[in-house]
Amino acid sequence: MRSRLLSVARALRADARITVMTGAGVSAASGVPTFRGADGLWKGFRLEDLATPDAFARSPHRVWEWYDWRRQALAGCLPNRAHHVLASWSLRFPRFRLITQNVDGLHERAGAADVLRLHGSIWDVRCWNRCTASPDQWRDDTVPFPVLPPPCPHCGGPLRPGVVWFGEMLDRDVVDRCLDATCCDVFFTVGTSALVHPAAGFLDHARRHGAMTVEVNPEVTPATSVVDTAISERAELVLPELDAALGAHPLALSTARLRLEPLLPKDVEAAHRLWTHRDVRRYLWDDRIIPRGTAEEVARASATDFARYRFGLWLVYAREEARTPVGFCGLRADGVGAGPQLLFGLYPKHWGQGLAQEASRGVLAHAFETLRLPRVIGAADAPNERSVRTLAALGMRFERRAGHDGLDTLFYSTEGRPPSGR
Ligand code: OAD
Repeated sequence: MRSRLLSVARALRADARITVMTGAGVSAASGVPTFRGADGLWKGFRLEDLATPDAFARSPHRVWEWYDWRRQALAGCLPNRAHHVLASWSLRFPRFRLITQNVDGLHERAGAADVLRLHGSIWDVRCWNRCTASPDQWRDDTVPFPVLPPPCPHCGGPLRPGVVWFGEMLDRDVVDRCLDATCCDVFFTVGTSALVHPAAGFLDHARRHGAMTVEVNPEVTPATSVVDTAISERAELVLPELDAALGAHPLALSTARLRLEPLLPKDVEAAHRLWTHRDVRRYLWDDRIIPRGTAEEVARASATDFARYRFGLWLVYAREEARTPVGFCGLRADGVGAGPQLLFGLYPKHWGQGLAQEASRGVLAHAFETLRLPRVIGAADAPNERSVRTLAALGMRFERRAGHDGLDTLFYSTEGRPPSGR
């Protein structure tokens, strides 16, 4: 499995168009029963006996009993590690899209942005009579409903769940956006039996558009023999492993003359030394690169919460001076409003030895090869010949103009035009 994971991880470049489609299996570890699994039946009814407009017309009370029971069960469930990884990817990858057939809302509760909910939400309701006084649909978290079916507050008729039932049309706009999302570089189908259309057809769309296709499901489905890579394991195990393979944490780095070590909580003394360095404080705090905190708090965040804060700090050691850092290097993968930033600070007595270039190169290599960032940008106040030479040697594009508070500033970028401001 490891080699498959690594080959998938390699395809997840920072600028890749990544689309993940999920089904009930992604929520199994949260304690939500899948539909077609052994525990999917409710009081002996099949899904198709409950999730249809005809079933509701025959017995709104029975259908609501089932939905009310599911809402009660869901209210006690929490997102699991698979939801958390996908939520972090929705922030990490600018071209990430998440399609779900699930109506449970757990992706959103994990913090996923812009979820394409193909089958609606169990937390929405709408008037069965479509009375003119009521909105199209609205959210109602009441659990349990005191009366079933719950009455429409506008006309008193029955409410119905805001989900799409068998035999009903899907929201055209959502389907179009899902189809658009299938034009991607990597398409995942995770925890779905791949039986219900149109979701089941999205995989073929993605293949026709040349996407690399990946299935994550412990069981064989119709998709298993079709995808490029089938990972036969549970989503809550596979996705965190894949995330770890993306290089979510800062690494120790070595260049020809330098050692770069991630700032760790044990390096409190070095962190304090850094903190007394005026430039470090200005870079990190005043420019809101990281939240204000004590040296220890920031060191801990850099070492352990890289995936969350998306920044890392390295202490730079010259080989011959192994115990005392000559400076620091920092990387913020999603610089405030501006994109990835490279920070660099070298204690003045070490200037002019080419160390800045070398340390920056090490961190840049890490940024592109391990973290797969599309670009790195930054700004340096009070430019001089040396900083210009360093940027030129790193192949950066740069521009000198008034920046923060009108200060003479060098704006630099590894790609395209340098950013227009901070
Ligand atoms: P299913 O119940 O049909 O399939 C769940 C899939 O998840 C199965 O293939 C399991 O092998 C897999 N699975 C179980 N545990 C897993 C885990 N921990 N990690 C990964 N996979 C796991 O549910 P769906 O495919 O979501 O539609 O069903 C699709 C649609 O059919 C649902 O949205 C629902 C239903 O009709 C509507 O309600 C309109």
